[in-house]
Amino acid sequence: MKQTQFKEPFRPQYHFSPPANWMNDPNGMVYFQGEYHLFYQYHPDGTTWGPMYWGHAVSTDLVHWEHLPVALYPDHNGYIFSGSVVVDWHDTSGFFGGNAGLVAVFTHSEPIPNTVNLYKQRQSLAYSSDSGRSWTMYEGNPVLSDDKQVDFRDPKVFWHRGLKQWVMVLAAGDHCRFYASPDLKEWEFTGEFGKHEGSHDGVWECPDLFELPVDGDQERKKWVLIVSIGDHQDHEEGSRTQYFIGEFDGRTFHSENPADAVLWLDHGRDNYAGVTWSDVPERDGRRIFIGWMSNWKYANYTPTSTWRSAMTIPRVLTLREEAEGSRLFQAPAAELKSLRETLLSRSNLWVETGENPLNNIRGKSLEIIAEIEPDDAARFGFRIHGSKQGEDGTVISYDCFNRRLMLDRRRSGVVDFHEQFGCLHGERLEPVNGRLKLHLFIDWCSVELFANDGKLVITDLIFPLSDCDRLEWCVTGGRIKLHSLEVYGLRTIYAGPAASPVCLASGVEEE
Ligand code: FRU
Repeated sequence: MKQTQFKEPFRPQYHFSPPANWMNDPNGMVYFQGEYHLFYQYHPDGTTWGPMYWGHAVSTDLVHWEHLPVALYPDHNGYIFSGSVVVDWHDTSGFFGGNAGLVAVFTHSEPIPNTVNLYKQRQSLAYSSDSGRSWTMYEGNPVLSDDKQVDFRDPKVFWHRGLKQWVMVLAAGDHCRFYASPDLKEWEFTGEFGKHEGSHDGVWECPDLFELPVDGDQERKKWVLIVSIGDHQDHEEGSRTQYFIGEFDGRTFHSENPADAVLWLDHGRDNYAGVTWSDVPERDGRRIFIGWMSNWKYANYTPTSTWRSAMTIPRVLTLREEAEGSRLFQAPAAELKSLRETLLSRSNLWVETGENPLNNIRGKSLEIIAEIEPDDAARFGFRIHGSKQGEDGTVISYDCFNRRLMLDRRRSGVVDFHEQFGCLHGERLEPVNGRLKLHLFIDWCSVELFANDGKLVITDLIFPLSDCDRLEWCVTGGRIKLHSLEVYGLRTIYAGPAASPVCLASGVEEE
């Protein structure tokens, strides 16, 4: 693995990124013996997508990561596409001599000779009895194939307590398929879902299926099916992720919403192929999600140097009952608070047009939390990663008349690597009790915005020039009341002299 200082232009300072070379989907996320494992689609020989391996890292706090050697290598069955890892607690597979161990269930993708980008996709196993440090390919691979399916990949497996069986959900082109197994080796087809449901703007990929309590009520649970959909030239949004809510009856999934309803997990451009950790202990109980922070529309062209791509921050998923039905909410994992350095904390502050309470803060790695009453303003928001002259930056704003939360990255720095990267996009968002809550995570190449407690999330890549560290609070057409405003610098997760990429501008007194 190439050496890196993790200080290159655009290198995320607290998001997971590979030390070198290309990364896409998170894979095999599992918690085992005190460690969160994160495997990922990895091309160790280049900075663009290519023959796929599984890269590997572990963390005890979801924030600091130890990079480990490549876990899975291509073999005679093909490249290693996306998949999951389970803890086989009772050795149902027989791989572990009666003990518990890790089993990876993934897609072997084998190029079909004399075709362009056509693969034979089959599901396979690998196992590890040393906490994921070394892996053995199962000699009986592949364990599941279907010659009729061209796209047939990304198995997510979990132990179903009621059925006392393993359940697999995988993506088969325009729908999900479900299978059951007693031992991870023999799989029985049980059902399918989705041919006529949700969005079909692109090929279905990377599903995940899990149960969540509604409003925290353990007696009232619903199933969530996450499905990523690939890029398509007709859709400017590129690749993105939808979810369904309903019931898994042990054989197939039933959505509780009309077939044409589409629920987006993220309204930004750069959160794809995300799935959740398996086997998080019950005493913790969280359903923790991470997504690939890129978009197949331009992922191969982003202007980084020796590595390409990062993951989103880890997020906790919950279900809440809203007026329009049950909805998925996302909250930043609490562990990220360990990186905070308080830069500003204010409450009950009126901000008039033209005033900038963030004037004296500089930083490229920040967290901002604000609770706002729009009063008579026409528009308000932030400019982050701003240039000294104030012309460049990424603008996050709320249009009070149209009630739309917008992100504008047209002047966010380097945008010319793809014609559809520089864009303005947004989504309708209603205030709650007359207020809006905005929670922002800013890193050297990204912005993640959690609005109204994570009901609406926008995740976007940006590539600001290195001296763009200004912050601006913008109000136009009136005034707003900031009920609270907190700004934190976020320390880098990499040790070293540049450990604190945040500061107050000189002459500023801390609050
Ligand atoms: C999603 C995806 C998966 C596939 C992997 C290949 O981004 O296309 O469907 O397994 O990437 O790298």
